[in-house]
Amino acid sequence: MLYYLVLACVAACSALEPVQVLDRWSGGMKGRITITPPVDLHGWTLHILFDVPVGHFQIWRATVVWQNEREVAVRNVNYDADIRAGSTQTMDFTITADGTEPVGAKYYIEGIHEGPLGEPTTTTSTTHAPTTKTSTTRRPTTTTTQSTTITTTEDNLSWLGVRPLTNVDQGNVTGSEMAYDYHVALGLSILFYDAQRSGKLPNNNPITWRGDSGVDDAVEGHDLTGGWYDAGDDVKFNMPMAWASWVLNYGLLKFPDAYERSEQTAAMCDAVRWPLKYFLKCWLPAEDTLYVQVGDRKTESAYWERPETMDTPHKAYTVTPTCPGSDVSAKMVSAMASGYLVFRDVCGRPILADRLLAASKSLYTFAKKNRGLYSDCVKQADDYYGSTGDEDELATAAVWLYKATGHYTYLAEAIDFYNDGVAWAFDWDDDNVGTALLLYEETSLEVYREDIEGFIDVYNGTSVVTTPCGLTYIDRWGSNKYAANAAFIATAAAANGINPDDMKRYAMSQINYILGDNPYHISYEIGYGDNYPRRPHHMGSSCLVNTTECDVNDPGENPNVLYGALVGGPDDVDGYNDVRSDLHNDVATNYNAGFQGALAGLFHFALDDILPPSPEPVC
Ligand SMILES: *[C@@H]1O[C@H](CO)[C@@H](O)[C@H](O)[C@H]1NC(C)=O
Ligand SMILES: *[C@@H]1O[C@H](CO)[C@@H](O)[C@H](O)[C@H]1NC(C)=O
Ligand SMILES: *[C@@H]1O[C@H](CO)[C@@H](O)[C@H](O)[C@H]1NC(C)=O
Ligand SMILES: *[C@@H]1O[C@H](CO)[C@@H](O)[C@H](O)[C@H]1NC(C)=O
Repeated sequence: MLYYLVLACVAACSALEPVQVLDRWSGGMKGRITITPPVDLHGWTLHILFDVPVGHFQIWRATVVWQNEREVAVRNVNYDADIRAGSTQTMDFTITADGTEPVGAKYYIEGIHEGPLGEPTTTTSTTHAPTTKTSTTRRPTTTTTQSTTITTTEDNLSWLGVRPLTNVDQGNVTGSEMAYDYHVALGLSILFYDAQRSGKLPNNNPITWRGDSGVDDAVEGHDLTGGWYDAGDDVKFNMPMAWASWVLNYGLLKFPDAYERSEQTAAMCDAVRWPLKYFLKCWLPAEDTLYVQVGDRKTESAYWERPETMDTPHKAYTVTPTCPGSDVSAKMVSAMASGYLVFRDVCGRPILADRLLAASKSLYTFAKKNRGLYSDCVKQADDYYGSTGDEDELATAAVWLYKATGHYTYLAEAIDFYNDGVAWAFDWDDDNVGTALLLYEETSLEVYREDIEGFIDVYNGTSVVTTPCGLTYIDRWGSNKYAANAAFIATAAAANGINPDDMKRYAMSQINYILGDNPYHISYEIGYGDNYPRRPHHMGSSCLVNTTECDVNDPGENPNVLYGALVGGPDDVDGYNDVRSDLHNDVATNYNAGFQGALAGLFHFALDDILPPSPEPVC
């Protein structure tokens, strides 16, 4: 204990105040903090230092902003921001901690004792002692009901710490009963996109541990800042970014009430604007040049550090008439043309909308004129997002342009480009079944309906693996994402009148599995519920703020919670390890997009009271 406190006390030792232990049981403890500030407080952040590793931490009347193995920083909730000098406020908390030995804990208040407000003051990055919970497969949690458990919306949402879903009346918000809080999961997912932002961050950036990064991304003075980092790294791959962008836009256009009623519309508009503004910078029509990637994962993944402290220069890669890439070009058309509709109809930014439409039209012409697979030419993309075709992207681009303009030429071209058949997957390389939906919406033709039904039939068990507990399993990379993408297709199909109840039930079976109907009762979406992955493969989340060195192989939990990220997911027999270097803990902007759309769809059906009862969990 002393050893740790000595390290921790560099900043604040004289100020450490004792924490009262109210109760200690096997595996946990309850504590009380009593603040009597010497000066008036108007908003405060307090750090609690423990002498043992702490698992789950829960506090009432405060919000967790940051957690480390032995340190937690909490901030006031709004109604408790002001504490008068000399007055007293108490706050109780619980932790999980192994064993029954006494736990020592002390606290200090930022600003009063030491440290800048807002950011956690941390001990210099001392190597974390390995947690006792070495990351083997998680055991199912036994839910011990403690008398202290509070399950109110406000409590949950203030615990999330950012962007509360205010005014959502839990009792009345749904017409149909939901097995999981789809709207909470939806709000969280947007936060993941906020955590992926590159460039200069706006003042309302909700992710306290993210700062400006990639602010020098430019080629010969041409600004390429912005966009999303693809995954846990700091590379901007336009192919999956554009796919995530159009799929998110589609979900928002399809289920706007889900965003509205969970008070996420403004947040979502902010989120989807980010890649679109970057795409506008990437397209230089006068020079027949499209930037399609910034950064090179091969050279940059060698370093494990926060994007904020990256000093490797970011190289940028283009497609041109001599290095064609109609696939990625058309994918960006889909993002911008759907973005036009979003900013015209939902987000109320007509000028931005018009710029997006103009760019998408000229880029579509460029794509048709310069056919070819971008990864044949941009070798830096090939190992990660190598493309296998362009007709699916051209079809999607054309149908979005038709939706945006009403010009039949686009519809005719979309129909021409579309290849009939049942897709292997809906993902960043294969738009097909998504395009079938868009075309079905415009034409009601049987051929599209058959391809959609055929796809869900396959996923629903006819010729792919379903894990013993019920997840459609397509691939070991991103097993959750394939299932969630299919769930999104199913919700959109249901909304288009294609076998609605069966489609909704299939979507619920997959989403409920991801949120907890699995053998570990874990939510594979970070931050949802109490039991979720703690070690996502993500540099920013796993490195302490303002440090330049951290280690992907450090077995400790990520100090910064990557709220909302959907991790890769289980193997084909439902097995999963919460290990940072394990592919099952990868995260990516293309993992969350269909998932978020499916959540919006399910919440929309619940609001309309047309969500059938959830399928029984298999596990
Ligand atoms: C991190 O660095 C920034 C810029 O120097 C500074 O404003 C901030 O207070 C630092 N945060 C911490 C936790 O040290
Ligand atoms: C819940 O909704 C119903 C039907 O819309 C309404 O009659 C009732 O007053 C609402 N209850 C609350 C607490 O708002
Ligand atoms: C999925 O399979 C189940 C069991 O065979 C079936 O009852 C259900 O209708 C199927 N759902 C869809 C959307 O095809
Ligand atoms: C809400 O909070 C309760 C009590 O802390 C917890 O059991 C539950 O899992 C939380 N729900 C979500 C969606 O985070």
